[in-house]
Amino acid sequence: MITVNTVNEIVSQVRHWKREGQTIGLVPTMGYLHEGHASLIQRARRENDRVIVSIFVNPIQFGPTEDLASYPRDFARDSQVCRELGTDLIFYPQPDEMYDADFCTYVDMDVLTTQLCGKSRPTHFRGVLTVVSKLFHIACPDRAYFGEKDAQQLAVIRRMVRDLNFDLEVVGCPIVREADGLAKSSRNTYLNETERKAALVLSRSIEAGKKLLAAGEKDAARIVAAMRAVIEAEPLARIDYVELVDGDSLQPVSTVAGTVLAAVAVYIGTTRLIDNTGFVETEGTK
Ligand code: PAJ
Repeated sequence: MITVNTVNEIVSQVRHWKREGQTIGLVPTMGYLHEGHASLIQRARRENDRVIVSIFVNPIQFGPTEDLASYPRDFARDSQVCRELGTDLIFYPQPDEMYDADFCTYVDMDVLTTQLCGKSRPTHFRGVLTVVSKLFHIACPDRAYFGEKDAQQLAVIRRMVRDLNFDLEVVGCPIVREADGLAKSSRNTYLNETERKAALVLSRSIEAGKKLLAAGEKDAARIVAAMRAVIEAEPLARIDYVELVDGDSLQPVSTVAGTVLAAVAVYIGTTRLIDNTGFVETEGTK
């Protein structure tokens, strides 16, 4: 495994692999790797000749009052994890390698980015789409791996790839959870013991939504109310949003039809956490 810090180095390595006809799987991350990231890397390992993991805490996807400075970082451990999972190359740039002082070109998107997390994080997806575009151009992957944990991120990246004709496959991977249900997240490290317990309201609320959907409930308001009730019972939790949206447009739905996404964002103390579940209504569904 090699670690490179500059765009020039990764580009020349990628050119070499491409000349040899090798396929490349890219796993973009912000580091502090956990089993969620590991599941993406493992899948990339199975499906490609070469696996690139990028580790970059992307400053432009953080809002001015968000946790850029305190975002957890541990490159030595991440590097070890990548090595154990069979990564070929870690791309680990510093911010000034990715963004020149006069950087001024962004990739932005309408509609999809103003929903859900976009409401409280208005510049977030512009930052994500910009860095992911750069990584796609730099690493030229055949496949790129993203978690369903960040369902809106996955949806906006899929749309960007379609809209801007990126020649690669976006692979979505299921949410990896702790034994008690909490979705794995680098931000879980912010939680103290009491908050960690309180954070279970996210997965419990998702479970409540899932159960109603599986039972054939079609009324979105009733599903959202049941999900909200679970979270509102926890004094340390403050709801950012609880929504049932169309899986493609991310617009709120009033009746369940086709593919829907039940998604929540909740502050536990000062830590903002997200969770979701997808549901496909099929012929057999009541
Ligand atoms: P980060 O939060 O480090 O996540 C990197 C990838 O891991 C994302 O695709 C995310 O959805 C996935 N992931 C995180 N937790 C997961 C879990 N519990 N189960 C499955 N997958 C999980 O998302 C980002 O970084 C950044 O926005 C990035 C795409 C790298 C752009 O900067």
